[in-house]
Amino acid sequence: MTTQTILVTGGAGFIGSHTCVALAEAGYEPLILDNLGNSDRRVIGRLERIIGKAPRLIVGDVRDRALLDRVFRETPISGVIHFAGLKAVGDSVADPITYYDNNVNGSFVLAAAMHAAGVQTLIFSSSATVYGDPDRSPIPETAALRPANPYGHSKRMVEQALADLQHAHPAWRIALLRYFNPVGAHESGLIGEHPQGKPNNLMPFVSQVAVGLRERLAVHGGDYPTPDGTGVRDYVHVMDLAEGHVAALRHAEKQPGLTTLNLGTGHGASVLEVVKAFERASGQPIAYDVGPRRPGDVPAYWGDPTLAEATLGWRARRGLDQMCADSWRWQQGNPNGYE
Ligand code: NAD
Ligand code: WQD
Repeated sequence: MTTQTILVTGGAGFIGSHTCVALAEAGYEPLILDNLGNSDRRVIGRLERIIGKAPRLIVGDVRDRALLDRVFRETPISGVIHFAGLKAVGDSVADPITYYDNNVNGSFVLAAAMHAAGVQTLIFSSSATVYGDPDRSPIPETAALRPANPYGHSKRMVEQALADLQHAHPAWRIALLRYFNPVGAHESGLIGEHPQGKPNNLMPFVSQVAVGLRERLAVHGGDYPTPDGTGVRDYVHVMDLAEGHVAALRHAEKQPGLTTLNLGTGHGASVLEVVKAFERASGQPIAYDVGPRRPGDVPAYWGDPTLAEATLGWRARRGLDQMCADSWRWQQGNPNGYE
């Protein structure tokens, strides 16, 4: 059997690079297209050490139609996993047009190029952010969609456009995957997440405190209606997510259609539970101060992954302790990312 090539847009990034490992382990050949706007080409050498072969990297933009046409013409591609996009909620509020251009226009250019090339299998990175402030947790896929910022709107718009595309062209095979809070790193410690500048997200911030890059964590709010007063989220190990993409691809190969699935664990953890788990994993104390709430934050939510399990036979297997242990291994071995 010939190896199937999967185009991975944004494949040099955090979730994309881990998904390249899962794809290679499942017998696919990942082909990365990334503009390196939020990633580092040295990830390729790390992937080579894990997979045993360096994936091909095309440095370019997903909005470059001529480039996409050339890629589809030159390489037989059986499916696309589309990670490329911008993801900082605050930046999306400050500069919405840039977000709509990258996330929405980028997805449209990609879908049009796929259509022209006859490639009809697409796995799309959506986000639990499309639910906004949900009425209840765990959140099922049928919950109301009420994104609260341009980033969330951009994901919802692409979901809608892809659903319309699949409706118009029923031969398409599309999965919309709504991730909860991806954290952790590959267990080798060779690849992981390295945000540029001060991290917005909890786990990278905590691990930078543990390794001594930052002094103290600011806990954003201690007066939420949660068991310990701090915010609760559904943290999911990035390798579980990566394997979820392979499962979604295998599912799409079986039959045309559109599937929308939550990828989460079904459990919430509070900020202080994350801090304690990281202290256990690292053996380092994490200094923190409980400060005011962060504007726009939802008190608590977690996903219902029942449909993903029923549809894909996938479920998250790695717990919070492993998420922290793997983040710590990556952070300790690579305090400055891929530098
Ligand atoms: P990331 O920034 O590490 O990866 C995104 C990659 O896409 C980067 O390598 C970046 O250089 C590339 N990219 C961005 N715009 C591009 C463009 N126009 N053309 C080509 N490449 C481009 O982020 P991530 O955490 O790996 O997220 C991947 C996807 O998952 C994103 O679409 C994000 O919105 C979505 N998502 C992320 C989270 C999260 O918390 N990390 C949660 C839900 C959904
Ligand atoms: C988690 C918890 C914070 C930092 C964001 C995006 C969402 C999705 C995932 C892409 C909250 C608290 C955080 C800190 C803290 N991304 N916190 N101190 O906000 O759930 O989700 O990333 O789709 O769209 O909004 O993740 O990691 O920022 O916060 O106390 O320094 O940690 O208040 O309760 P969030 P997060």
